[in-house]
Amino acid sequence: MCGIVGYVGYQDATDILLNGLAKLDYRGYDSAGIALVHNNQIKIDKYKGKLEVLAGHLEGENRPGKTGIGHTRWATHGKPSDANAHPHPSEDMSIAVVHNGIVENYKSLKNELIENGVTFASETDTEVISHLVRSYFDGNNILEAVSKTVKRLKGAYALCICAANEPGKIVAVKKDNPLIIGIGENENFVASDVPAIIEHTRQIYTLSQGTIALVTADSVELFDEDLNPITAQVEQVTWSAEAATKAGYEHFMLKEIYEQPDALQNTFGSILDGEAIEFEDFPLDKELLSGISRIYMAACGTAYYAASYGKQIIEKIARIPVEIDVASEFRYKNPIISEDTLFVAVSQSGETADTLESLRLATTSGAKVLSITNVIGSAIDRETRYAIHTNAGPEIAVASTKAFTTQVICLYLLAIELARLSGKLTPEEYKGYRKAAFDAPEYAKSAITQNDAIKEIALKIAEAQSVFFIGRGVDFCCAQEGSLKLKELSYIHAEAYQSGELKHGPIALLQDGSPVIAVCTQSTELFDKTLNNIKEVKARGAYVFAIAKKHMESEIIDEVDDLLLIDDGPDELSLIPAAIALQLLAYHTAVALERDVDKPRNLAKSVTVE
Ligand code: G6P
Repeated sequence: MCGIVGYVGYQDATDILLNGLAKLDYRGYDSAGIALVHNNQIKIDKYKGKLEVLAGHLEGENRPGKTGIGHTRWATHGKPSDANAHPHPSEDMSIAVVHNGIVENYKSLKNELIENGVTFASETDTEVISHLVRSYFDGNNILEAVSKTVKRLKGAYALCICAANEPGKIVAVKKDNPLIIGIGENENFVASDVPAIIEHTRQIYTLSQGTIALVTADSVELFDEDLNPITAQVEQVTWSAEAATKAGYEHFMLKEIYEQPDALQNTFGSILDGEAIEFEDFPLDKELLSGISRIYMAACGTAYYAASYGKQIIEKIARIPVEIDVASEFRYKNPIISEDTLFVAVSQSGETADTLESLRLATTSGAKVLSITNVIGSAIDRETRYAIHTNAGPEIAVASTKAFTTQVICLYLLAIELARLSGKLTPEEYKGYRKAAFDAPEYAKSAITQNDAIKEIALKIAEAQSVFFIGRGVDFCCAQEGSLKLKELSYIHAEAYQSGELKHGPIALLQDGSPVIAVCTQSTELFDKTLNNIKEVKARGAYVFAIAKKHMESEIIDEVDDLLLIDDGPDELSLIPAAIALQLLAYHTAVALERDVDKPRNLAKSVTVE
């Protein structure tokens, strides 16, 4: 997500901030800005677009200031624009704030501030922080004002704050989003990540949860949320600048796989508000729902498999008929769409040409059009009336990972909200489903923690010519996505079949040792059915690797060659850990085969041509 850089020292800050932000560009961004403190005044420059736009505006300008904060923004609340770019000042320009993360309770804080007469200049959640700090600030207590503000915030954030009256000071706060302090000589730095400061220093503090740091040119003081002093160990960065962009992971893909619990948490930030599910840009209520009799979804690649999960889960819980299509087919089949259709375009990038054209077709056919994208301000996001944002943060590896699981959780939340509004769930059932969503980040971890075991299995898969994936129901969606991941990354031929369909043809291809990967996480009759299918392929000499739940162990262990057990979570969300296990399997298979994991041959991250 967003990038933060802060500087306080003896040099003019502008170039240091701009260079630092440039080093964070791998995090993805759509706007950039800096704030400088000089002569007890704050001067802010911020623009939509790349850093070059900001640098262009600053060229030839005299921007003195040896204290400054900078930011590259990845839109979450509010589209990419100059106004929504950070830093965000207080109304009187006495405070400036940059922020990475999401303030979950910003709506109630914003209402409170508006009632107190504050006028907002942006659509962001961040701006409440600037005004809150100002409300607690009496001219020379920036540290205290920040500490009081932080106590009012819910959510995940990293902050960097400066005050006009206190030049030479930056206050940094870390909660759930990364933030480090770089220690220099007569100068200190704050950054979201090591690459931003590595050319200045390799001595850092990695701030722990809830830390507030007061940074001056020659001191770094650390405090807990109540401003009790705390200590931290200075670390020596040994990574190269290049490795640092991947936070020490060998590939962006692995980093993004590991980010999924946090990404899922971030997705909730703009959707779950207290007891309710509220989609910020999709005012779903009984009235809107009364005009919807069916749903149609179109998407490409991984997003299509998320859509096929969406179909199953919406039909199961909300009992609304859902049709799905790959977008390139949808466009040319003269689809039956009418005003009572809710058309849903699912896309990580929001730029995929076929998906974009599909939604244009749906729009002209009169449908109500909703998009689920990861990039706010993307073409698909802009062209749809309604939007749900996955907020997974930038995905750099070509193969989609965290975008997929966050699309899944959005579709799950959509399904239970549709079900609630149409009276298909009792309040108790609704509560249970909603709680399951909150538990999804933990559920995801039950696959990630088994990385080493999955790597061992990948070494066997790496020797295969062809791999079958099987599953039923939601497990079949997972099998399809697992098969796509393996193909994309390892270039091994892979096919996904509904478990029961295998015997109607493909089973002829099985020989001694043919790998079959069985996803059987559904604790219903589907489990017994898939178990029977596993027996069928075992009888033909297949090597079977199964993903099941812990409570299924005794029934399945003797039927398979290798078994991975995820936690006993709800069936409706077991796709999340199961898909993560298959992401790791594809990843390690590709690494074993020395493939170009982050940029597989012939593939593009965003396909903007038909
Ligand atoms: C490309 C990528 C896939 C992705 C698909 C859809 O083919 O290689 O990983 O799933 O596009 O992209 P979207 O951005 O629309 O989700």
